[in-house]
Amino acid sequence: MAIKIAVIGTGYVGISTCVGLSDFGNIVVGFDIDDNKIKRLSSGDPVIYENGMEYYLKKNLETGRLSFTSDFKVALKDAEVVFLAVGTPEREDGSADLSQIKSALDAIAEIIDRPLVIVTKSTVPAGTNRWINDYMSSKVDENLFEVVSNPEFLREGKAIHDFFHPDRVVIGTKDGKENPIMRDIYRSLYLIETPFIWCNWETAELIKYASNAFLATKITFINQMANLAEEMGADIHKIAKAMGMDGRISSKFLHPGPGYGGSCFPKDTKALAKTGRKVGVVMSLIEEVISSNETQKERMIEKAKRLLENNISDKKVAVLGLAFKAETDDIRESPAITIVKGFLKEGVKISAHDPKAVENFKKLFPYVEYYDNAYDACKNANLVIICTEWNDYRNLDLDEISRNVKEKKILDLRNVLDPESAIKKGFVYEGVGRKGVNL
Ligand code: UDX
Repeated sequence: MAIKIAVIGTGYVGISTCVGLSDFGNIVVGFDIDDNKIKRLSSGDPVIYENGMEYYLKKNLETGRLSFTSDFKVALKDAEVVFLAVGTPEREDGSADLSQIKSALDAIAEIIDRPLVIVTKSTVPAGTNRWINDYMSSKVDENLFEVVSNPEFLREGKAIHDFFHPDRVVIGTKDGKENPIMRDIYRSLYLIETPFIWCNWETAELIKYASNAFLATKITFINQMANLAEEMGADIHKIAKAMGMDGRISSKFLHPGPGYGGSCFPKDTKALAKTGRKVGVVMSLIEEVISSNETQKERMIEKAKRLLENNISDKKVAVLGLAFKAETDDIRESPAITIVKGFLKEGVKISAHDPKAVENFKKLFPYVEYYDNAYDACKNANLVIICTEWNDYRNLDLDEISRNVKEKKILDLRNVLDPESAIKKGFVYEGVGRKGVNL
């Protein structure tokens, strides 16, 4: 039987939840306070750039199983389950700002008149679901609601795939026992034998943080190894490949680069460290990962300056790739921000290209010269820096770049180019973790 669901918040996680759950056959109403966003979503425009999202959005709007509203009462009208997918941004002190969760709960408490399952999809610090339960109990009859934690693990750029093919589904309940309505919502995943982890609220919350912090640690580890490999004349790619062949390590998340970014890793590592301090457990490893990731971004600027022979006045740098990773228009915590900011501060002229993220970047840096084409962005540049691993950059025509640039220098922060061919074509080439290798 179709379950009636309201999804509060239509950010990245919210839209994916709306589209995914309606595709599973549930009746879903997405809510957001932003009228304009609701209009766009209702007309089949996913607002964000995400592979496959438009197709699934339109498909489920057409079936009538999915709709959007900016009226909270309409969203909650027949709902049996409400998913909270509002933002939990980072406060200045690194803790998570839960004010949007609180507003949603206040609005629910005002209209709730029959049993409702409240599911937390937003990433919230350990202890929040218990707090939600206590907060709701202070406002309405305890028998009217049930609190469930259901963290989301999807990756930007692969959101649709990850929603339909998750490695696991984690569901935290008050007593850690199975909840039949949650099983029904995800019935399609049961059919493809996705593992379900039933646990208590705190365990579900920490699974999410532990997973993200572990991946961030893995990236930071390989970045530090890459820096060492550079100095020692070793090749980080071969090191990572050999490490990954050990099944205990696995080859994933061993790509060195300019430091991790995005809406999750930076925010979640900080919130985890903060939670630890709050309860007297110093997460020193995670704290080190956070600061090492910042150092990695700064190190990229130093590498670039070295390539410019530390004489940067009147120089022009072409930045290829502004998104925090490929296949997204998201620039949150993108290493390109630190790099562009660092150069602009010193008066360096920046030209830039990105297949999808220019509009978002423009809002932060209106004075950068933006181009629709990577080759035009390279015109008269003294240095070309590749910041994002878009496929477009893997196949760059280096002869055309040669004709456009002032100096043939490439800093490839994602190791997407073949160093040998770049060097053969007369470029000074530097990647991450491969300097000095006998190519
Ligand atoms: C991440 C988690 O993967 C996902 O499970 C969670 O729900 C949200 O956070 P996302 O931020 O979309 O997803 O991107 P991801 O592909 O994990 O990459 C995060 C950052 O790490 C990016 O900046 C990426 O460039 C960087 N990265 C990733 C590396 O530098 N090296 C790698 O090997 C992998």
